[in-house]
Amino acid sequence: MRTFAILFQVALTLSLPTTLALAIAASNSTSKCLPSDETCFPPKSSFDELSDSLPTADVIYPSLSRYKSWSDATALHNQRLEKSEHTPYCAVRARSSSDVMLVVKFCAENNLLLSIKSTGHCYSGNCVQQDSVLLDLSLMNDISYSSSDSSITLQPGSNFDALYALNEETQTQSVGGMCGTVGPVGFSLGGGHGPLIRSYGLGTDQIISVDLVTAAGELVTVTKASDPDLFWALQGGGGGSFGVVTSITLRTHPAPPSLTSYVCNYPLSLDSDDNTGDSGVATASMWWSDIMPRLPNEWTFFSVLLPAPIPLEQNIPEFDKNTMQGLLSLEGLFNGDFASAEASLSELGLLDLDKSRQMSCKFENHTSLKAWHESRWFGKTPVPTRNYMSTSFAQKNFDGKGLAKVAVDAILSTDNAMSSFFGIQTGGAVSSTDSTSTSISSAFRNSDMLMEIDANWIRSANDDAQESWTHNVGRDVAALDNMAGAYVNEPDPELENWEETFWGSNFQRLQEIKSAVDPDAFFECWQCVHA
Ligand SMILES: Cc1cc2nc3c(=O)[nH]c(=O)nc-3n(C[C@H](O)[C@H](O)[C@H](O)COP(=O)(O)OP(=O)(O)OC[C@H]3O[C@@H](n4cnc5c(N)ncnc54)[C@H](O)[C@@H]3O)c2cc1C
Ligand SMILES: *[C@@H]1O[C@H](CO)[C@@H](O)[C@H](O)[C@H]1NC(C)=O
Ligand SMILES: *[C@@H]1O[C@H](CO)[C@@H](O)[C@H](O)[C@H]1NC(C)=O
Repeated sequence: MRTFAILFQVALTLSLPTTLALAIAASNSTSKCLPSDETCFPPKSSFDELSDSLPTADVIYPSLSRYKSWSDATALHNQRLEKSEHTPYCAVRARSSSDVMLVVKFCAENNLLLSIKSTGHCYSGNCVQQDSVLLDLSLMNDISYSSSDSSITLQPGSNFDALYALNEETQTQSVGGMCGTVGPVGFSLGGGHGPLIRSYGLGTDQIISVDLVTAAGELVTVTKASDPDLFWALQGGGGGSFGVVTSITLRTHPAPPSLTSYVCNYPLSLDSDDNTGDSGVATASMWWSDIMPRLPNEWTFFSVLLPAPIPLEQNIPEFDKNTMQGLLSLEGLFNGDFASAEASLSELGLLDLDKSRQMSCKFENHTSLKAWHESRWFGKTPVPTRNYMSTSFAQKNFDGKGLAKVAVDAILSTDNAMSSFFGIQTGGAVSSTDSTSTSISSAFRNSDMLMEIDANWIRSANDDAQESWTHNVGRDVAALDNMAGAYVNEPDPELENWEETFWGSNFQRLQEIKSAVDPDAFFECWQCVHA
């Protein structure tokens, strides 16, 4: 999620020192043949032959006459990436598995760098690599429900809007994420968090089978029974490494008749006596350490810290911008009815938490996940911004007070109204699968919360300041006791030791499987599994 629904305030220049130079380092080295190397790069005529051979697609290049298809093919949902190097040599907007197979074979035979893009939400830009042949799958967006086993099969260009609409029609529920334009395929391959994970497990835990075009250009159907190693790698290893997914089949769950949300807001203020924001720290740490871990699995809460309510989206009349410098917003969804939702929060004391400081707290009934998602500020189609993100998992018994202090300080000291902390409650059914049965790291499986540090801004002049803020705050969060790992689908692109940070002790087995299924290391991308 993390892209604000409306553009409400241009990011102001930061006063924080920019201690980090986020240069495009030269270490994205590749053994592939790039267009600049005339000794190995195929002539244009070879690409023309490929184009003629594709049953339902063409090879396209940047050109005025093809401007719309080129810009759609290469579109990334993060304007920060436009400044850096994300221009492929050519693109194929595939419409069928046959197109995909022929492109993979051509690139493998000619040792070309391939990029695979589904909906283009990749945060680091690794789905559109410089000088690559881009396979854009956004036009492959079929989605269907099978009543025999209540599963949903979808292609990589499909998205959560389509998934939730089909769920509503079939009275089912799927584990999806937030923001309707994001694709379930990349989401599930890397983990997949959302409002129902504590009820049903991660997105990746819902995979029944995957149709995959391998490095040899063959289309295979991978299930746990057909190929347990590759299936294990696909459940958490992330996109880009093991093949091109052309379709995925996901388990669904029966939908309850209604769902219930609870939202409650608290001010973050520079308290007049000591200028520390202590009352916000106290509320957040009491919530994280004493209440949140005891919630039943039907509840998933988002803990959002931000500099101000989002105008027109978060309606909080009590918010006084003269005395309040930030907001802690607790956004919960209960996968069940109002009576049980209310009873559980009241029993655990959340309804009374810091009662005198509560602002606009309320329950709401929703007829479906779709209805809830559309009613929330993060369910709206976002206006594109520049974005940088850093993530860490809070392990059981994490230091709630230490985390709250870092988060409140960071929010109170930023001048960017679109910087935020987004804490996604994990645990529950996420932790009921053990951390060796899929390639999801133990840091993710055993966590209580995924903490995202998220900056969104408009002007490129603020890139360095915003990137540094996010990277440095992210590093401070990661350094706290009992914080571990990072989420492969929401990575800090400058993260060090990312292999271990994303996958922990599962990385070694991922490497072994990568060597076995792609011995020539054909599939290659930044922050992706490599041998
Ligand atoms: C606005 C926004 C909201 C988000 N919300 C959530 C959320 O609520 N929960 C959550 O868990 N994540 C969320 N994410 C992160 C999301 O999971 C990732 O961006 C994910 O990569 C999206 O998958 P995609 O299918 O669009 O793949 P892309 O973003 O297009 O690609 C991601 C990676 O997978 C590879 N890849 C893409 N397609 C394929 C394919 N068909 N076969 C093999 N490899 C492929 C790419 O090369 C790249 O390495 C969000 C991201 C954004 C930008
Ligand atoms: C490598 O490329 C990715 C995406 O293309 C970019 O975000 C990242 O900063 C690069 N890293 C280095 C070390 O060059
Ligand atoms: C939700 O619905 C139930 C019964 O259907 C009703 O009793 C309750 O008041 C509703 N709650 C809200 C907040 O509207």
